[in-house]
Amino acid sequence: MAWASVLFLASFSLAAGRSSEVPAPFVSSCGPGVRAFDGLLVQWEAIAGSDYYEVQLLTNATGEAFAIVSTGHTSALVQDVLPDRSYWVRLRAHRAMSPSLGPGTWGPFGQVMQCSVGRGPASAAEQLPKPAQEKTFWLEVLRESEYTIDVDYLGNHNSGSVLGDIAIATSTGSMQPSFFENFTMATLSMFCVEVLEVKVPNTMSTGGDERFADYLSCNYNPDHQAPQCECDNWIDRKIANQDPDPYCHDAYGKPCSYDFLSKCTCSCSDQSRQMSAKYTGMMPVFFSGPSQLGNWYSHPVEAECTEDEAVGSHRKDGSQCTWKRRPDARIFKGFELIEAGWNLTFGHDFKADSAQVLQNVQTFRKVEASRPLRPWKCGTQDTKALVIV
Ligand SMILES: *[C@@H]1O[C@H](CO)[C@@H](O)[C@H](O)[C@H]1NC(C)=O
Ligand SMILES: *[C@@H]1O[C@H](CO)[C@@H](O)[C@H](O)[C@H]1NC(C)=O
Ligand SMILES: *[C@@H]1O[C@H](CO)[C@@H](O)[C@H](O)[C@H]1NC(C)=O
Repeated sequence: MAWASVLFLASFSLAAGRSSEVPAPFVSSCGPGVRAFDGLLVQWEAIAGSDYYEVQLLTNATGEAFAIVSTGHTSALVQDVLPDRSYWVRLRAHRAMSPSLGPGTWGPFGQVMQCSVGRGPASAAEQLPKPAQEKTFWLEVLRESEYTIDVDYLGNHNSGSVLGDIAIATSTGSMQPSFFENFTMATLSMFCVEVLEVKVPNTMSTGGDERFADYLSCNYNPDHQAPQCECDNWIDRKIANQDPDPYCHDAYGKPCSYDFLSKCTCSCSDQSRQMSAKYTGMMPVFFSGPSQLGNWYSHPVEAECTEDEAVGSHRKDGSQCTWKRRPDARIFKGFELIEAGWNLTFGHDFKADSAQVLQNVQTFRKVEASRPLRPWKCGTQDTKALVIV
């Protein structure tokens, strides 16, 4: 798995990548894991020109993904499956040397296979990761894909806590953003991220939580393939109930407003930018209301650990990887949430009604719990306890 370490070849790969499509991978075997019951083992042949793969579990033979496992290897163990049943499985391959895991960097899906999980004791296959050398903590994050209706990943992207991301999905659901037709087709991916425990001094955006750097706005995405992050922008500062005026101004040096955002720039100190490029960024979000509606995060791509690096590893070039996405994620489509009762009464002007957001969080957790999988857990936390704030 080398996609993170080949970023410096991005300009070459853009030219090379577009001319060569990655073929679809096929499941070569699938079935119970090696030990008595440790999950569903899926294997495939390596695809030339690919460096990373995504295994999807589908709702039915022609349905949507509800869970994924991604890896640079040619097999994956899906640990959350239930015994004595079968799953619809398909794969896609990522084009080597692409600048990200984003839209346009993946080949087509291979054929759908039905895979049976053996009988076995129904004891939970604990997803306890290898203990890290360094002190770390776990973050459950949700991201709504942009510029694609496929699963998207975290490097140089923003995500939120479930509450924080559902707050923005609730408040912007009526817009027709350029990245999907409408909320019906939206894709939300829930990841579990292991974060190096650090103490970052003098932050502006974090509400004093020193485990995080200042949040960056990762909306700049010129060709959708190589997202970039920049100093926390005016709108995001408003959503965080901060006063943006000391940091942001329009082309004439005047305070910005909702009407003139295209000419609005914000500045961050050199120290703040350096820390945000190394560590997970965070800001609490409010959406103009009195109570906090979760957090938003920024995930700096250069600091992302590969699947074979332990969080906190120092690299030969002197950098350190400080966060790592667990290979498995849970996937949700907008129409599934709507069918389950998602409230589509929309907010506006980046406001959100907290009762409506909490209602949508409950709908989301209901759909999550209805999946034919073991209960979702992130780290040692039982995340269901975190629904109500
Ligand atoms: C397959 O699943 C999708 C949801 O992912 C659903 O819309 C569709 O009706 C299902 N099809 C069948 C034949 O059950
Ligand atoms: C949203 O998109 C779906 C599928 O493309 C379409 O059927 C539906 O009418 C759209 N809804 C709105 C409100 O535009
Ligand atoms: C949706 O949310 C709005 C705003 O909180 C609320 O007034 C409305 O009753 C909700 N609709 C449903 C069907 O629950």
